[in-house]
Amino acid sequence: MMRVQLDDEERQVAFGECLGRALNGHGCVHLAGELGAGKTTLARGVLRAYGHGGAVKSPTYTLVEPYVLDDQRLYHLDLYRLGDPEELEFIGGRDLFAEEALILVEWPSRGEGWLPVPDIEVQLRLAAAGREAQLAAFTPHGRAALERLAEAPALAGAIRHGERAAT
Ligand SMILES: Nc1ncnc2c1ncn2[C@@H]1O[C@H](COP(=O)(O)OP(=O)(O)OP(=O)(O)O)[C@@H](O)[C@H]1O
Ligand SMILES: [Mg+2]
Repeated sequence: MMRVQLDDEERQVAFGECLGRALNGHGCVHLAGELGAGKTTLARGVLRAYGHGGAVKSPTYTLVEPYVLDDQRLYHLDLYRLGDPEELEFIGGRDLFAEEALILVEWPSRGEGWLPVPDIEVQLRLAAAGREAQLAAFTPHGRAALERLAEAPALAGAIRHGERAAT
């Protein structure tokens, strides 16, 4: 487990960029946290790591927004309005999760019971200043990515002392 303090929006994006790079272009990341916790902002940083410079529209109604960046496939899901986890079948979820892609899922709690175990779960919370991110890995790929992330020079100082070790 790893905890990171993100004082402002700029750091939130920079952290997403580091996370994106640490994932080497594939895997699934759950972005959990209440309304306004900064999930989409973090997703913007991850997409930036693959060359997406612009804004990120929240696929609240379409549920999924696909990106192809530099031959790299990314999917940004927002399940806030998902009525039932089974609806993920109808939007082609099974094929999507079978791809060699990088998948970001906002509101993963809405898909519980259907969604596969993620490589990494990021839990975002409001902090006294900005946000705090708590990360946990559930697969070997996720653990390796957290180890790379802990070494990112851009995060020096943001990672809570004594909690650098990825588990
Ligand atoms: N580390 C941060 N410090 C301060 N403000 C932040 C930080 N990260 C994001 N914000 C701000 O929080 C607001 C909400 O961010 P964002 O849209 O990313 O949240 P969200 O978790 O995706 O919300 P939703 O559940 O509605 O999808 C934005 O105005 C954003 O600029
Ligand atoms: Mg959002």
